[in-house]
Amino acid sequence: MATTAQDIQTPKAKLPPGPRKLPYIGNLLSFRSDPLGYFQQLQRTYGNMATIHIGKMPVVLLFRPEHVRYVLVEHPRFFSNSGLQQDGNSANEGLLTIDGVQHRQQRRAVQPAFHKKQVEGYAEVIDQYTQELLENWQIGDQIDVSRDMQALTLRIISKCLFSVDLSHQLQALSSVFNDMIGSQGSIAEDALNIRIDNPITGYGKRMAATRQLDMLIYTLIAQRRASKEEYHDVLSMLLEAPYGDDPEVKLNEKQIHDHILTFLAAGHETTANALVWAFYLLSQHTQVRAKLQDELRNVLNGRVPTVEDLAQMPYLNWVLDETLRLYPPAWFQARFVAQECEIDGVRLPVGTLLMLSQWVIHRLPEVWGDPDVFRPERWDAAQGENIPAGAYFPFGGGPRTCIGMPLAQLEAKMILATVLQRYALQPLPGYVPGTQPLITLRPKHNLCVTLLPAYSSDMKEQWTLLTRTANNNVSTHAERKGCLGAVLSLFGI
Ligand code: HEM
Repeated sequence: MATTAQDIQTPKAKLPPGPRKLPYIGNLLSFRSDPLGYFQQLQRTYGNMATIHIGKMPVVLLFRPEHVRYVLVEHPRFFSNSGLQQDGNSANEGLLTIDGVQHRQQRRAVQPAFHKKQVEGYAEVIDQYTQELLENWQIGDQIDVSRDMQALTLRIISKCLFSVDLSHQLQALSSVFNDMIGSQGSIAEDALNIRIDNPITGYGKRMAATRQLDMLIYTLIAQRRASKEEYHDVLSMLLEAPYGDDPEVKLNEKQIHDHILTFLAAGHETTANALVWAFYLLSQHTQVRAKLQDELRNVLNGRVPTVEDLAQMPYLNWVLDETLRLYPPAWFQARFVAQECEIDGVRLPVGTLLMLSQWVIHRLPEVWGDPDVFRPERWDAAQGENIPAGAYFPFGGGPRTCIGMPLAQLEAKMILATVLQRYALQPLPGYVPGTQPLITLRPKHNLCVTLLPAYSSDMKEQWTLLTRTANNNVSTHAERKGCLGAVLSLFGI
């Protein structure tokens, strides 16, 4: 039976050791001030597992690749996703947070949209929208890449899965998603479970954003129901999806809404973050970038990449894999224990909340050797590096592996290849990305860059451009809030 948030009791069993906790808030302050650093420090201190308290609720952190295998791949039925969604009911019947038979049935219903051939068909949309974005990019411009990637991936996912072109609503929608995904709850919200719905609380902002998205999504469903045209997209699959044993009983409006919201949210922010981190890492590792650009030139010679081309570009693959290792957009996964089980000799009672962190496990020194180094070559099978199963899981694993993985990989590789054939992205002087680990892991400061020619061997030309753009504060793109924010933050404003 699925466990819901309401069922969760503080388990009385002896959980793994962990840091001392404060009354009421537990370890929330340390967790909130630097979750990534805190998790890593806990792993170093306690080894395989540790227990922290978020408010009064114990959370068991699992740090081993074999734990990942146990939870995600070998015994997924012992664990539940339902109840992980805390805020009201915005998407709690979407694919990410339903369990058991319902999950299997509904995942199967939309699976055709993610079959190899179908996904390859999305390449046309990815190419068209990327080209349209790049029409606005000129050598020498200053660009807020974080913002542009978020808008681009949102536009792509909406078109591929729901056949709508959101080009006119993109900026507004991106900011709604930012409020939904990016506004953190206060200590009172998180520790004491207090929810105040007004415009200044994190909860209130998330609720306002959710209401706007609800309106958009219910309109989309109504328009589709009224349409005479035939579609073969995720929306049409959801409208036809059976619910339960009776094929005549279909998903209701709220269930369809929750699926759409899940796909939109999970399907754009993650890929956008992956791209931004990749552009950032490449800007810091010029030899890797040069090697990748060589591969792009050899295989594509300026052409738009096709699906077949991508198979000929191993280095591009490794760059993406290595980016997702160092900066996994999904930096942790959570599960409730739904059936008592034992991991590493510790009995975990029903209702225990577990967390597996990609951030920590992707950086275990005993697995990766030089975990903090960005080294795409480690993915070269010919070099025979032995990466144990469960040590690398940017897309999760087992029956709940990210359904969008093939689309995300195609999209990220096509966009990287297209952009990098034209431009070298040079972050503004003094740029330090920082990390903002919320639902997804994004840079704390938007990545703002100057666009330089990709293959300019003329260093003088690059230097002239850099100095010219550094003096040119009135660039339209620089006026964008994110870039301006990055520049101001250099002066501590
Ligand atoms: C780089 C990009 C992406 C990353 C790193 C990523 C990561 C993940 C991870 C780790 C999970 C497992 C969550 C869990 O088991 O708790 C997941 C599930 C999911 N992802 Fe993605 N994702 C990405 C792109 C996408 C895209 C493009 C879509 C849209 C089609 C998508 C839709 C989903 C959905 C619907 C699930 C739930 C699957 C299920 O439970 O059956 N993701 N993703």
